[in-house]
Amino acid sequence: MNDTNTNFTSTNVVWHHATVTRERREQLNGHRGAILWFTGLSGAGKSTLAHAVEEKLHQMGCRTFVLDGDNVRHGLCGDLGFTTEARIENIRRVGEVAKLFMEAGVIVLTAFISPYRADRDRVRSMVVPGDFLEIYCNSPIEICETRDVKGLYKKARAGQIQEFTGISSPYEVPLHPDLTVDTGSVDLDACVQQTLKFLAGNQVIRL
Ligand code: ADX
Repeated sequence: MNDTNTNFTSTNVVWHHATVTRERREQLNGHRGAILWFTGLSGAGKSTLAHAVEEKLHQMGCRTFVLDGDNVRHGLCGDLGFTTEARIENIRRVGEVAKLFMEAGVIVLTAFISPYRADRDRVRSMVVPGDFLEIYCNSPIEICETRDVKGLYKKARAGQIQEFTGISSPYEVPLHPDLTVDTGSVDLDACVQQTLKFLAGNQVIRL
């Protein structure tokens, strides 16, 4: 796996195989690693749901980590803005990091708008089927805008933020998400329960 890397400029690098494998880590953890990819508009509730699900998983004894758009953009992706190219690179980096976490045996929950289908599908294609679970946080823009927790929609409408998702930049709704959660109309507890049931149904956890 990954012995040859033809996409990048790194040359003369050879994959080193670890003796402590993903399988052994998962055995130690008592659950498998997975990437739970939350996608949706800003203010749809991705981070809130991801953190609430993480809380439950942690209480159940699972090893977890949340990668959150706003947080990651303070560090790893602090050099990226919101042009199409920058968002593509943002999701590429996050996909690679999420994969590393998963191989470490962790259930990684990512909360990024990730507006482009091609970018989400690219991450899906980096792992085996079942390892990447796309969770669409479905909240109409009217609701996100009414909530406007960070005051960004107001700024975007006033022309103070360019290329704002849903207003002046596109959001491509997932065509075949593994799960859709109606975060715009269903309360948080019910969304968490729905997600946990889904994870159990996909053999990520046992309820
Ligand atoms: S993504 O499109 O590249 O996936 P990401 O999830 O990392 O975006 O970051 C989105 C967060 O950045 C939003 O929740 C919001 O707080 C902030 N933000 C700042 N500018 C923009 C913008 N132009 N469009 C969308 N979100 C923005």
